[in-house]
Amino acid sequence: MRLQPLLLGWIALLLAVGLQATLPDTRLAALPRVAALPEDDEELVELGQWLFFDPILSHNREVACATCHHPDHGWADGRSTPLGVGGVGLGPMRKLAAGSSFEPINRNSPSLLNSAFNGMDILGTYPAPRQPMFWDLRADGYAQQAIGPLQAPAEMLGRQCPPHQALPQLLERLRAIPDYREAMQGQVNMDQVTRALAAFQRSLIAVNSPFDRYLRGEKNAMNQRQIKGMQAFHRAGCSLCHNGPMLSDFKLHNIGLEPALRTAPLRNLALSAPYMHHGGEPSLESVMNFYDRLADRAAETLDGGDENTMPALDPLMQRLDLLPEDHGLIIEFLGALNDPNPPRTRPSAVPSGLPVGGR
Ligand code: HEC
Ligand code: HEC
Repeated sequence: MRLQPLLLGWIALLLAVGLQATLPDTRLAALPRVAALPEDDEELVELGQWLFFDPILSHNREVACATCHHPDHGWADGRSTPLGVGGVGLGPMRKLAAGSSFEPINRNSPSLLNSAFNGMDILGTYPAPRQPMFWDLRADGYAQQAIGPLQAPAEMLGRQCPPHQALPQLLERLRAIPDYREAMQGQVNMDQVTRALAAFQRSLIAVNSPFDRYLRGEKNAMNQRQIKGMQAFHRAGCSLCHNGPMLSDFKLHNIGLEPALRTAPLRNLALSAPYMHHGGEPSLESVMNFYDRLADRAAETLDGGDENTMPALDPLMQRLDLLPEDHGLIIEFLGALNDPNPPRTRPSAVPSGLPVGGR
């Protein structure tokens, strides 16, 4: 008889532990100071930089990787959605060239800064060189990712070349250029191209934000409003998904947009507006308003609302508790995640002699 309360106590404890285990680890962390792998020597990074800025990679010789991921636009393009083949100009000013037709791309260009750390968890463990890529995590590392734009008609290929000819023809164009033949020691192949592009992208890191410095022990690196903002970020439930060193769990969630989108990393957001996979939110204020509406909707579904008309929201959304006074504070905290001095390097010329970064 006397055992019974004790037993109940144990059951309650086990239940509590069990519930705890199903909740995510919401801790945040600083980023490491380097992302380079041992093979990333200076020559490989330089070759990668050439390739990245050289429009010779596109079939019409007008679009470079940098067209949509440009150092002047935070290694993104400052547009809601990009304009690849058929465009002229850079960033928000890029326009359809006279006589060209438009191929819509329905995803926003993400910033490449710190993409080398994609997939990193709170312990600093990550799956390099097979980091998850894209808004829906569908590519496995830089090597697999790079093939995407090279073969996509709207991005770099155009309609003049069938996709299965994209890579062989690209290699032919590169082989015709002495600097590329020399840099790849006569072995111009896709493995070399993607390894060099990856090495260059691993150099695009920005890891000295006030937040990183604060977590590394500089107690004055973040101001009081930013620290309060970090507390509000946790209290409101943002860190249920936005956690670890990239402020992303790198999992897919339904937050009422598309059923399976990755938690977006939240670093250097000052450089990468507009936001979300559709690029439809012009500012962080508008993102906060989006979450306000979402919290209301999550509360409605909890009350047995409109389940049939909408796919079920991520269960974590029901824990979102965003107060009006949190908005400004959380935005201040997000500001502490900007590195004041991100890389802006670009080559002064590329081996093809074409315009650096494309037309
Ligand atoms: C026409 C614009 C365009 C061009 C050109 C382009 N990209 Fe992208 N890039 C995008 C878009 C849009 C996405 C997001 C696609 C998605 O999630 O479905 C993306 C995603 C990426 C990502 C994933 C980043 C992350 O954090 O998930 C990497 C890496 C990348 N691009 C590198 C490159 C490289 C390397 C090249 C050149 C070989 C290139 N891009 C050319 C528009 C472009
Ligand atoms: C249930 C998981 C979840 C929670 C909780 C959550 N987010 Fe998100 N967040 C996401 C996902 C998924 C995306 C990507 C949406 C997209 O691709 O359109 C995202 C995108 C964002 C973006 C856009 C980043 C960019 O580069 O476009 C910001 C900013 C953001 N969240 C901030 C917050 C804040 C602030 C909170 C708390 C009020 C919060 N999130 C709570 C999952 C979550």
